[in-house]
Amino acid sequence: MKTKIFDGLWVEVITDVDIYWKLQPKLMPGGNYIRVGRDSAKSTCLLFAPPAEEVGILAKYLAIFDKHGVNLLHIESRPSTRMPDNYEFMVECAPGGNLGEAIYDVKQMSVYLNIISRDYNDNKDSVPWFPRRIRDLDRFANQILSYGAELDSDHPGFTDSVYRERRKYFADIAFNYRWVPTEYTGCLIFVKLHGQKLPHVEYTKEEVDTWGKVFRQLTTLYPTHACKEHNHVFPLLIENCGYREDNIPQLEDVSNFLRDCTGFTLRPVAGLLSSRDFLAGLAFRVFHSTQYIRHPSKPYYTPEPDVCHELLGHAPLFADPDFAQFSQEIGLASLGAPDDYIEKLATCFWFTVEYGLCRENDKLKAFGAGLLSSFGELQYALEEKSEIRQFEPEKNRPTKISYHRIPTGILCC
Ligand SMILES: [Fe+2]
Repeated sequence: MKTKIFDGLWVEVITDVDIYWKLQPKLMPGGNYIRVGRDSAKSTCLLFAPPAEEVGILAKYLAIFDKHGVNLLHIESRPSTRMPDNYEFMVECAPGGNLGEAIYDVKQMSVYLNIISRDYNDNKDSVPWFPRRIRDLDRFANQILSYGAELDSDHPGFTDSVYRERRKYFADIAFNYRWVPTEYTGCLIFVKLHGQKLPHVEYTKEEVDTWGKVFRQLTTLYPTHACKEHNHVFPLLIENCGYREDNIPQLEDVSNFLRDCTGFTLRPVAGLLSSRDFLAGLAFRVFHSTQYIRHPSKPYYTPEPDVCHELLGHAPLFADPDFAQFSQEIGLASLGAPDDYIEKLATCFWFTVEYGLCRENDKLKAFGAGLLSSFGELQYALEEKSEIRQFEPEKNRPTKISYHRIPTGILCC
């Protein structure tokens, strides 16, 4: 049943309880949450070129897929960039059928064949799948490493059932967010195409109080500790996006502001993404953002990204053209890259975008979001005896990063 909420936004309400539960996130082998039966991220793309232009060649290829029971989701022909005056096909294969045999047969008929797959680890010849259009981000947005109310035992909200319920609410909002319409879009779901609004959240008084404490402390340090780009943008966010100590800005407002400045947009995320997926979003100037806030018992500490970190730390810099370009280039470099490259890029991101310092007139300033969203970290990085190293990734490669570990060395660009 479709219901018109307002112009341009339709919500389809699911009345079938069985369907509703089928749409709930399920923990799958390997630790990922996916929507059972509706996840197309496991499709495999093949790129191949016939030896020469030949009438009916496409039909011959299609017969191979038919023979092996492989269903095709997308077929495309285009000029080959590797072979001038030739063309190539790109097909997207749904999971199922005897794909291995089909690939073997296609390869026998082709000058070259490339496989692009999420399951690239199982196939040495394949290239890791990567999004080619912004709407492809929907395919992995829910392949997250944790979900909603699942908190580690040392999380400040671990024993707080109300907080855990609230976290699930935020996770459900993000889980059901889509760039594109889907077949089923009901119950807590906010869908539609262009101009789809990011979910509006009514924050509780307790949540706003927590934000206020963080906001008040940090804004006393920004004039002296933040880089000039952050200090340039921050008043604009106050003016345009409702940045105030008694108001948690809405992602929608901040996203619209960033889009006007640099083309960056925010997208809600239900949990922690893999480095590969997070970086792929940056390639499209999309920043995956949390929307929940840290536990009120520890307003000046969070073991994970929260709305304070995203909106106070990251958002101001994504409004800066040079910074936005730098962030996108890290993302572009990640597309289809092997795992060891992804690790290097994620490490580069971590010690710059997350924890970077820069020099302004011989004075150190912070541009890393992890510093700009933490009073203690910001003070420690610039006022105390923190270990600061020059950012020379080739010479002095930092150790592997983790969202659960704050770096002991701050790098300076
Ligand atoms: Fe971050």
